[in-house]
Amino acid sequence: MQEEMSKTKEMMRGNPTIYDILKQEHNDVKKLFKQIVDEQRYQDSIYMKIKNALTLHMAGEEKLFYSRLENNAETRQLVLEAYEEHDVGKKVINDIDSSSSDDVKLAKVKVLSEAIKEHINEEEGDLFKKAKKVLSSEDEHEIARQFVNEKMQKMPNMSMPNPPSPPPM
Ligand SMILES: [Fe+2]
Ligand SMILES: [Fe+2]
Repeated sequence: MQEEMSKTKEMMRGNPTIYDILKQEHNDVKKLFKQIVDEQRYQDSIYMKIKNALTLHMAGEEKLFYSRLENNAETRQLVLEAYEEHDVGKKVINDIDSSSSDDVKLAKVKVLSEAIKEHINEEEGDLFKKAKKVLSSEDEHEIARQFVNEKMQKMPNMSMPNPPSPPPM
């Protein structure tokens, strides 16, 4: 998380658009999924990073990006589909959290990985293309700033993979 935040701060210096920020996060989460899928082994610490990253990412998109596009005829249909895809992702995340076997968790993480990859392709393809017709360049930079601020505020509330253990007596 800490490392991720310094990367985001670094990115902000380049005056990114919301598309730059979202693409960076997409690439980061795809790398995390790949670690589990390549090893064919469920790893709780990596899954917790995926879950936290996706939860913040989806909340930020819905609040600051989709909300700007859902009432425009150009982007409305794609945004409604994207909300549904987020809901599917959230459901699989809940299912993983309530599964007790690592084999079942691995199966669900792999399905989540495929679903999220598909969702990312749709966002980076059609949705971003159409969003660029709807949003001004100023909007695109402003939403990026809001997205990062929002994330910074929420970060301390996220559950961490390994809570610090009390010092030994
Ligand atoms: Fe996204
Ligand atoms: Fe999304």
